[in-house]
Amino acid sequence: MESLTRSATRLLSDPWPGGVGGTGVVPAGILGLGSYVPERVLTNRHLEEIVETSDEWIVTRTGIRQRRIAGPEESTADLALGAAQAALRDAALEPAEIDLVIVATVTGDQPFPAVSSVVQHRLGATRAAAFDLAAGCSGFIYALAVGAQFIQTGLYRHVLVIGAETLSRITNWQDRATCVLFGDGAGAAVLGRVGEEEGFLSFDLGSDGGGAEMLSVVPGGHGHPLTTGSDAEQINSIRMAGGEVFKFAVKAVEESTLRALGRAGLAVSDLDLMVPHQANNRILEAAAKRLGLDTGRVYSNVERYGNTSAASIPIALDEARAEGKVRPGDLLALVGFGAGLTWASCIVKWTGR
Ligand code: UT7
Repeated sequence: MESLTRSATRLLSDPWPGGVGGTGVVPAGILGLGSYVPERVLTNRHLEEIVETSDEWIVTRTGIRQRRIAGPEESTADLALGAAQAALRDAALEPAEIDLVIVATVTGDQPFPAVSSVVQHRLGATRAAAFDLAAGCSGFIYALAVGAQFIQTGLYRHVLVIGAETLSRITNWQDRATCVLFGDGAGAAVLGRVGEEEGFLSFDLGSDGGGAEMLSVVPGGHGHPLTTGSDAEQINSIRMAGGEVFKFAVKAVEESTLRALGRAGLAVSDLDLMVPHQANNRILEAAAKRLGLDTGRVYSNVERYGNTSAASIPIALDEARAEGKVRPGDLLALVGFGAGLTWASCIVKWTGR
């Protein structure tokens, strides 16, 4: 049997998959993007038949006109896989070239195994490690920050970061204050090495658990078993103090963006585009005003998908690029906020096509 000393020496001398000795920082960025949403469309008109609401109220208060809803057989892993495949095609990489899969989600299909392990297997990412990450609607930016570290240290060469949600499964369809807001979908980014001073320039991550009760789903954890019976849907679903979350969100977008810009030595005037979490156009307009950023430089597609939590930023980024609003050399701010409470921002110098 191999001695412990010899085995430890062998492990230490094994080359990391990234092939870098561990000195210096490898610049990391996004090499490919993809998104995937369910086919089923739920319009505001449909919602008028379910709860006492109106298209006019929803559009005026939020900007949302429709959202996508997963079919009965469609899982978070299915959506995540669709987005991952599109991102790999975009990056022109094979699944076996991925070293790590991170899925940001608050709607995993089961307590365990992680959605990321299911995706890793179904994708054929045979060499990849996998784990999930939960940071509410800030989850995708948190996952970008975590994934970027693996590239920057040279430990890994390619990390697949996915935001995927089936929020329709934790929505109380009798509560008009919340059920009009959410939708299902997934978006993904392949991270890898980029040129010097390109890709991720800075991150800002934060949390204030003092606001945990403002936005939560409590049952389902070991401390609070799921409720069964006729009132199960109301109890096992999203609860939100909308007004409080609104105020928090406007402040979080402004302050986190400024912190991330400051760390990169940049100012609001340097930004070509902000791609924020898509929760509500009024939040984005108010935050943009406070930042002195004209709304033409704030991307929004909330009218088509509603709030898809951790999936909203990568879906928006993918669509913004498809619309020609993200070009090589552009400076972008990706900004998330949500349950936790959490917030997260990232400044990116776009390198891809
Ligand atoms: O992903 C991050 C987390 N989520 C968010 O970012 C959401 C943050 N919050 C919001 O976007 C807004 O607070 C909402 C869109 C949720 C609500 O907008 P609001 O302007 O804050 O409305 P409100 O809660 O103050 O309600 C105003 C009125 C109330 O009626 P009364 O008490 O004035 O008679 C509500 O009962 O609107 C009523 N209302 C509705 N009416 C028609 C609430 N929901 C609806 C509805 N349709 N769907």
